[in-house]
Amino acid sequence: MVVQLTKEEKEMLAGEHGDAKRMSMELLVKAAEAYNAERLIPIASCHLVLSFQKTALKAGLETAERFVKLGAKCVVPTSIDTSSMDFERWEEFRFPRDFMEDQFRMKKALEALGAIPTWSCVPYEGGGIVPRFGQHIAWTESSTAPYVNSLIGARTNRVGAYEDLASATTGRTPYYGLHLDENRLGNILIEVTTPLTPGDYNVFGSWVGEVVENKIPVITGIPEDVRPLDLRYFGASGAATGSLALYHMPGITAEFRTVEEAFGGKKIPQRVQFGPEELKRRTEKMSSVPGGKMDLVVIGCPHLTMEGLIDLANRIKGRKVKVETYVLTNKVCKDMATEMGVAQIIEDSGMKLNTGCCAWSPVELCGFPEHFTVMANAGKQAWYIPSLLTQMRPGKVDVIYGDVDACIDAACKGEA
Ligand code: F3S
Repeated sequence: MVVQLTKEEKEMLAGEHGDAKRMSMELLVKAAEAYNAERLIPIASCHLVLSFQKTALKAGLETAERFVKLGAKCVVPTSIDTSSMDFERWEEFRFPRDFMEDQFRMKKALEALGAIPTWSCVPYEGGGIVPRFGQHIAWTESSTAPYVNSLIGARTNRVGAYEDLASATTGRTPYYGLHLDENRLGNILIEVTTPLTPGDYNVFGSWVGEVVENKIPVITGIPEDVRPLDLRYFGASGAATGSLALYHMPGITAEFRTVEEAFGGKKIPQRVQFGPEELKRRTEKMSSVPGGKMDLVVIGCPHLTMEGLIDLANRIKGRKVKVETYVLTNKVCKDMATEMGVAQIIEDSGMKLNTGCCAWSPVELCGFPEHFTVMANAGKQAWYIPSLLTQMRPGKVDVIYGDVDACIDAACKGEA
């Protein structure tokens, strides 16, 4: 399909607005052709995953620096996803020196491009942008896309590294997928017939990701008082095990008020149930080992924001951990938690706030033995650690999944 461009877009493609915009526009036009998009659309904001060294590797860093040299700037408000390390405590967390140097170069480059240094997979609660309902945006990162599409009703595909930078520097994205009304309707109904604890949302998300594949689920049976925090875990888990980028929970999520509306008034093509049996079986599948000793506990994937940090402080107050435990958050929340005394309570327990960092980089990079075990309260980690991460380093990493209380108990006892 020939991609229709506006006068300004044609000028960018011809290099009349500089080399960086030309390269960005070339990438976006090629992407639009691949997606069968008839045109590009203006976007209101962008969220970059190019920042994550483990995704974009050295080429991402070189591209960002090249864009800086060419005088490129983000032309729409643009936030930055997690870094692969804590910029302040990298030495304490044993990040390798050469890796640290590359991370600081990436920081310098992205900030020179004018991106907002949120360094978080929850940028909308870390000084970043909160999109509005119906707005077209180009956001990356598997946990942010389901959240902003579903809870807020903004419109984004799961944009990848490099395409994110091209969108940030031109203010455009290919018009396809979840930008179109007809692609946002549900096409599978999931009836939840069992009560879910907060931790179960990870398990449910992990199951949903596999069941729906690339469909849009409409989900019933979720209580109206479900916390956004639990839906964040749900979306991140579903986006890890599958390609979940949008779901509808009529009465809870933004777009549709009833199940009928969510299916566009059409016949429901497929129904599945998530009951006690599914919950039990999926929970068993979340861990690669049934329990035992662990070398590291990770809480906060996606990043804990104030609600999660306060909750954690209330649960850990007065207790001490025996296992190295990282609590992942973003800088804005860490600063507020410090002002409130919440950070002190968490650190007094022996847990360490690991700020701006993604959950899987310390597992890969921070000097743990070849074969070791991580306990995490995130469905996303329960999926990535035994699959992706194990392929990226020598040896084997096992994972034990548990909710926040289970992680706290295990960290204090030294075993699960
Ligand atoms: Fe965030 Fe990294 Fe988890 S980007 S959602 S902490 S895998």
